[in-house]
Amino acid sequence: MNILWPVFLLTFLYTLDTGHCYITYIEARLPLPGERAPPGAPWPLPRFWQNSSTVLTLYPSTFYLQSNARECDIIQNALKRYRRYILIDEKNGVRDLSLSVLEGLKVEVEDKACGYPKLPESYVDEKYSIDVPTSGPAVIKTKTVWGALRALETFSQLIYQDKNKAYQINVTSIEDYPRYTYRGLLLDTARHYQPMKTLKQNLDAMSYNKFNVFHWHLVDDQSFPFESKRFPNLTVFGAYTPRHVYTQEDVKEIIEYARLRGIRVIPEFDTPGHTQGLAKAFPHLITPCYGDGENPYTPNHPEHAEAEMLNPIQDNTYEFVKELVSEIKDVFVDDYIHLGMDEVYYACWESNPNIKKFMEENNMTTINEVEQYYVKRTLANVKDIGYKYMIWQDPIDNDVQASPDTVVEVWKDKYLDSKMDYWENYIVPIAQKGYKIVLSSCWYLNYISYGPDWKKYYECDPREFNGTEEEKDLVVGGEACMWGEYVDGTNLLSRLWPRAAAVAERLWSDASVRDVDSANFRLDQQRCRMLRRGIPAQPILNGFCGDYEWDLDADI
Ligand SMILES: *[C@@H]1O[C@H](CO)[C@@H](O)[C@H](O)[C@H]1NC(C)=O
Ligand SMILES: *[C@@H]1O[C@H](CO)[C@@H](O)[C@H](O)[C@H]1NC(C)=O
Ligand SMILES: *[C@@H]1O[C@H](CO)[C@@H](O)[C@H](O)[C@H]1NC(C)=O
Ligand SMILES: *[C@@H]1O[C@H](CO)[C@@H](O)[C@H](O)[C@H]1NC(C)=O
Ligand SMILES: *[C@@H]1O[C@H](CO)[C@@H](O)[C@H](O)[C@H]1NC(C)=O
Repeated sequence: MNILWPVFLLTFLYTLDTGHCYITYIEARLPLPGERAPPGAPWPLPRFWQNSSTVLTLYPSTFYLQSNARECDIIQNALKRYRRYILIDEKNGVRDLSLSVLEGLKVEVEDKACGYPKLPESYVDEKYSIDVPTSGPAVIKTKTVWGALRALETFSQLIYQDKNKAYQINVTSIEDYPRYTYRGLLLDTARHYQPMKTLKQNLDAMSYNKFNVFHWHLVDDQSFPFESKRFPNLTVFGAYTPRHVYTQEDVKEIIEYARLRGIRVIPEFDTPGHTQGLAKAFPHLITPCYGDGENPYTPNHPEHAEAEMLNPIQDNTYEFVKELVSEIKDVFVDDYIHLGMDEVYYACWESNPNIKKFMEENNMTTINEVEQYYVKRTLANVKDIGYKYMIWQDPIDNDVQASPDTVVEVWKDKYLDSKMDYWENYIVPIAQKGYKIVLSSCWYLNYISYGPDWKKYYECDPREFNGTEEEKDLVVGGEACMWGEYVDGTNLLSRLWPRAAAVAERLWSDASVRDVDSANFRLDQQRCRMLRRGIPAQPILNGFCGDYEWDLDADI
C-alpha cells in the first residue's frame, strides 16, 4: 500500500482538475489519454450532435415539460420522471442570473400509439431530434413514444450544474437513432433470487442507457421462482422458499415498469436442459440416466447426474411444456419467448436404453437427431400457441433446423471456455443459414477482472466477422448477460453498471464511435449521473462526482 502514497500526494499537489467540469477525475502523475468530454456530454453518443459554446440556464420553478401526447400514460409518466432527473439537485439547484433562460421543453410525437414496445421493424421507431435554441423552449420531435423516451433521456443528460449549482445547458442540435433494434440485458433469477427492487432499479439503469430488452432468465436447474397457477407445485418444490417466488402479479408489475420505460420483457423458459428446478416438482419428466449401464437413476460423474434433461421420448413432456408456455404467454405479453435449448448434454440420453430403442424405431442413427426431434416438436408447439421465439445457438450448431423466423442468440466464445471456438467463427454458419442473430458472446459481464474491463466490451463489434454485408445485416443486436451464480441484491447493480453501459453505446451509437480513451470521460460522467439517480454504479476513474458522494448524506 505504501508505494501508492507518493502518487496520492502528487495527485493533489499538481493535477487536481479544477476547471469548470464539475465532475472531476484525477490524473495521478501522468495525463490520461483521450479527449475530455465537456460537462453535459451524452451517453450513448448520438449520431449527430451539434454542440455550441452558448450556455443557457434553467429556472427550476418555472421550467416546464409539455407534450402533445400527454394522454399516453408512457409520456405522462416520463415527463414526471424526467423533470426529477433534469432538476436533480432539488435542494440546491438554482438558475444562473447572468445567462438567458431555457424556458421549457416541448415533446412532439407524431404517432401517439401507446401500447407495449415490440421488436422494431427499423431504427425509425426510436429516432428523434432535439433542438435547444438560443430562445424559446427546447423541442423534441419523434415519430413514436419510444423515440420520445430516448430523446428525454438524452435531453436530461445535456443538463449539468456549475460550481455554484446553477443548472446549465448549451445551445445544441441532435439527430439520433440506434444502430441496432435489439439492445438487451439478461438477468438470471434462478441461481440467486433477485429482489423486485433490484429488478426495477435495473430497468431504470437500462433506460438511462437506452437498452430496450430485458431478457429474464427466470428459471434454471437451481430454482424455479415463477409462479404457475396451472402447476403450483413448480414453486412449491422448485422455489428456494415460498418467499423466493415471483407471483404473476409481481411479473406484471415488472412488465408494466418496463413498458413505461420502453423496454420489452422476454422471458426465458429453458428446456430440455437446465430443468432440474422443474424436476423437483415433476421428476417423471426428466430422463433417467443409466450410469452403471444397467440401472436407471445411476449417475456417471462428471458425464451426467442420475437424471437430467427433459425426457424427449415421452408425449407428456411435450404436453407439459406446451401448457406451461401457454400460461407464460398469458402473463408475458411480448411477441417473443426465449426457449433456451442450450447445453443439451448427450451422455445421459445416450446411456438410456429406452432412448436407444426409440432411435431404432425412428430410424435415427445419431443422438442429435433426438435433439432435433425435441426441438422441432417443441418449436412447432410454441408456434401453435402464437409465440415467436429465440433460442441459444446450440441446436443450430448441432445442425438442428429451426423455423426461419427464429432469432438465434450467439453466446459461445473461447474466452468463456478454452475448448470453445471464437464467436467470430460460430456466427458465420448461423448467418449463412439465414437466421436473425443476437450476439452476447463478448458481453458476459458476470466474468469479472481487475481494472476497467468495460473497455473490452466496448471494443467488441457485432459486425466484425467474416460474413457478407447481407449476413452481417442479420445481426439485429446484442445482449449483455449477468448470470446469477455470484450476484444477488447485494452486488448485482454495482457489478453490472457502468460496465453494461459500454455495451449500450456499442449497440446504439455509430460504428465509428470507437475511441475507448475518449469514451472514458463520457462514461465517467454517465456513471456519476447514474449514481445521483440512485444506481450504485461502481467507479471507473479515480476522482469524484462533484460534491456528490454515495451515502454522504445518509442517516447513520
Ligand atoms: C463540442 O463537443 C466536442 C466533443 O466533446 C468538443 O471537442 C468541442 O470542444 C465542443 N464544442 C464546443 C463549441 O463546445
Ligand atoms: C458548452 O459551452 C461551454 C462554454 O462555452 C464549453 O466550454 C463547453 O465545451 C460546451 N459544452 C458542450 C457540451 O458543448
Ligand atoms: C403437488 O404435489 C403433491 C405432493 O407430491 C401432490 O400430492 C399433489 O397432487 C400435487 N398437486 C398438483 C396440482 O399436481
Ligand atoms: C425406417 O426405415 C425403414 C427402411 O428404410 C422403413 O421401412 C421404415 O418405414 C422407416 N421407419 C420410420 C418410422 O420412418
Ligand atoms: C477473416 O478471415 C481472414 C482470412 O482468413 C482472417 O485473417 C481474419 O482473422 C478473419 N477475421 C475474423 C474477424 O475472423
